[in-house]
Order: sequence, then structure tokens, then C-alpha cells
Amino acid sequence: MAHIVSYVYILSAALFILSLKWMNSPVTARRSVLAGELGMLMAIVGTLLAFKVFNWEWILTAFFIGTAVGVPIAYIMPMTAVPQRTAMSHACGALAAALVGTAEFYRANQFHEILPTFVMVPLMLETLLGFLTFTGSLMAMGKLQEVLPQRPITYRGQNLTNFALFGIAAGLGVWLIVNPAQTWIFPIFAGLSLVFGVLLIIPIGGADMPTVIALLNSYAGLSACAMGFVLGNKMLVIAGALDGSSGLILSIIMCKAMNRSFTNVLFGAFGQLQVAHAHVEKRPVRSATPEEAASILDAASSVIIVPGYGMAVAQAQHKVRELFDSLMRRGVDVKFAIHPVAGRMPGHMNVLLAEADIPYDRLYGMEDINSEFAQCDVALVIGANDVTNPAARTDKTSPIYGMPILDVDKAHTVMVIKRSMNPGFAGIDNELYYMDKTLMLFGDAKTFVGEILKELPARAAA
Ligand code: TAP
Repeated sequence: MAHIVSYVYILSAALFILSLKWMNSPVTARRSVLAGELGMLMAIVGTLLAFKVFNWEWILTAFFIGTAVGVPIAYIMPMTAVPQRTAMSHACGALAAALVGTAEFYRANQFHEILPTFVMVPLMLETLLGFLTFTGSLMAMGKLQEVLPQRPITYRGQNLTNFALFGIAAGLGVWLIVNPAQTWIFPIFAGLSLVFGVLLIIPIGGADMPTVIALLNSYAGLSACAMGFVLGNKMLVIAGALDGSSGLILSIIMCKAMNRSFTNVLFGAFGQLQVAHAHVEKRPVRSATPEEAASILDAASSVIIVPGYGMAVAQAQHKVRELFDSLMRRGVDVKFAIHPVAGRMPGHMNVLLAEADIPYDRLYGMEDINSEFAQCDVALVIGANDVTNPAARTDKTSPIYGMPILDVDKAHTVMVIKRSMNPGFAGIDNELYYMDKTLMLFGDAKTFVGEILKELPARAAA
């Protein structure tokens, strides 16, 4: 049986790795999800075979409760709420790891079993990371769902307090490794870890939560990996390490794409910067009606659509698909330019456009499309702001200076759909809107695109 379980685990690990690989492209993303699900099923079956299970009723009860909660959530939660749903999963996974560590600690003490240092070290790591990820993820979820204040809450000496608290919790962990019989320390250690999770997230602004969630994902993975060492389960070690490393890589990619350092995201209280910069100058801009926009699009031979967070808020992707179809039928070459941090989560735009069945081969990453803006007739920006702001290239004082952007300002004509002159996530004015070649199309993205669509057939008849 041990052989069979090993083979099942190896296959399962291979499927997890393939799943991560296939997640890299929208073309293979569905296959990736299936591979991940199959890998997880095999890991569960392998584990059930590996151990003599005495209490099937508990396992089945947990299975049915989990299914009853998980399936409706997957159907009910909208796409824009995926970051908070992910935070909820981390919170549950991390709590499970922390509770397993706690149970293992008390079990060993009850039976006067001396756990070797090789087990005690990961056990403490597992509980520390598990508990802080649990409360941290709940806080992140609360901020994203806007049940908690989104703005960063800061106070003097905050970082010092946080580091000191973490230091005390880690110190107590080391004490327990050396003196595992001192069980009274454990609740204090666990309590401090839980409090640290809350304090870690308080100073971070709501809009930075997606990056933080990727990082918490990494912590939850590392906690599960440590749990694998405690329980002597290779599958948990592999799956936890994959989860831990992929979460860390993702948060690094997100930080790079925003040209922000890790420390700036975690300790920079970025939301405060927004308030400081959130003054929008009252300068004249040129605006246009849906009819005028339709006539410009009708006359164009190449159009690059730049979607952003506003398209997600307006849920305009299906209307955008209709616009894409209509323009393509007219012989206009339409492409989509996707910035890596457009929206509020990795792949946000890809997911929305895929939902609307826009062909993958029409979606271009920033590096591939940037050289094409100079030749394109119209750049149509739909609810994107920061990712098109030329200040990132030119203004050294700008909070987004150095962030790679889409070179929308190089297109012959720029049209921007947004509701007002309000800034985006970074809280800063966008020079693009004041250029002579730019036309502001004020309105909700879904409504405005719908109105352009109504005008287009009339133009065809004209
Ligand atoms: P933003 O810069 O946030 O701009 C979005 C724009 O959409 C706003 O200016 C808003 O203007 C407009 N908008 C909102 N609702 C709308 C609606 N219903 N119809 C039309 N327009 C609407 O978005 P972006 O350009 O996609 O940039 C993303 C930002 O988020 C970047 O700064 C990035 O660093 C940050 N960020 C991204 C991620 C990931 S992984 N994607 C993670 C963390 C942070 P109005 O209010 O005037 O309509």
C-alpha cells in the first residue's frame, strides 16, 4: 500500500506543477484548473489510503459541510470579489494548519511524548504562520469587502510595535521548542500570533490588499509545508512549498509591475499617499458624445482597446465584446492592450474578457503592444487610468514614477471612457486627459459603450 500511496503522491505533485505552468496562459487556464482539481483529489485519496482512518463519519461530515458552503460561494460571489474569496480560503487553510499544530503540541504533552527539535521547529512555525495568516486574511477580506475601513490606520512607532510583538511571539516559540513542557506559554504564543496578523494589515490601504493576499497565500502555503514536516506527510510538504513559493513570486511580480518595493507595500501606508495627492486640477479637457465617438471609431482602421478597473466595476465586458464584433465586422483591426496590474487582481482583465468570449489572440501584453500605439488610429481607454498615466515615465515626483505603463499617449487619437475627472487607485491626476489628441467620454463604461453601439449601425446605413 505504501508504494501505491507514493505513486499517487508523485502523480498528484506532478499535476500541481503542471497546473501552475498551465495557469500562465488563458489558452491553457481551464486545463490548469482541471489538473489542480485532479491533483487535489488524488492527494486526498492517497492520504486516506495511507492512514488507518477510524472516524469516517467526521471526515464525511466535514466533506459535506465544506461542499455545502463552498459550491454556493463559487456561484454567488461575483468576479470582482475573487480577491476577498481567496482571502477567505487562506484564512480557513491557515486556521486548519494552526489548529493541527496546536492539537499535535497538546497531544504530545498529554502522552509525555518528547517531540524532536526537527518536529518542534516546524510545529512552532506552522502555528505562528497559521494563526497570523488567519487573522491577517480576515482583515484583508474585511477591507476588500469594505466592512472594515479601507484607509491605512497608522500611529507613531507602529512598525517598531509590530516588530517587537512579532519578536516576542517568535521568542516564545523558541522557548517552547527548548521547553515543550511549559504548556502555559502556548496560549500566549498563539494569542500574540493572532494579534500580530491584525496589526500587520491595519496600516495597509485597501487597494494594496490583492498584493497582500498573494503574500498571505504564501504564508498559508509555508504553514502547510511546515505541517507536512510535523505530520511526516510528503504531499503536504510539496503542496505547501508550491503554494508558498508561487504566492511569493506572484506578490513580487505584482510589486514589480507597480514599481513598488515589498517594504513599501507592507509598511508604506500607500492609501495615505493617495489622500495627499488626491487633488485634481481644474484644467480644460475636450469631451465628446457617443455619436462623435462612434464616428471616430467608424473612420478608424486600427483601434487598441485598453481596459482597466472601471470596466470591471461597470461589468462592461459583454458590451465591449459587442463593440469588438461590430468594429471587426467593419474591417477595423481591433486589439486589446492588457497591463499586468490593470484592475485589482492578477489577470483581472484577462478573466473578464475571457468571460465575454473575446478571442485570446486579440489580447496583447504590455511589452508586445506598446510599439503598436504609435501606428494605431484610436486608443480607446475603458475605465483604465494609472496604467496609462505618462507621469510614470516623466514625473520623478509622482508616486507611480518608474511604473511601466501602456504608451496610450502615442496613439493618433485617444478616447477615454470614465465617469468624472476623479483619479484612480494611485490618487493622482492623469496628464493624458489634457492632451490635444485626447477626448474624454464621460459616463459609466457599460452605458457609454452601449450608446456608441447604438450609433454605429446608423453610421453604416449613412
Ligand atoms: P485605476 O487607476 O484604479 O482607474 C480606474 C478608473 O476607472 C478610475 O479613474 C475611475 O474613474 C474609472 N471608473 C470607475 N468606475 C467606472 C465605471 N463604472 N465606468 C467607467 N469608469 C469607471 O485602474 P487601472 O488603470 O486599471 O489601474 C490599476 C491600479 O490598481 C494601478 O494603480 C495598480 O497599481 C493598482 N493595483 C493593481 C493590482 C492588480 S494585481 N491588478 C493590485 C493592487 C493595486 P471615475 O471614477 O472618474 O469613473
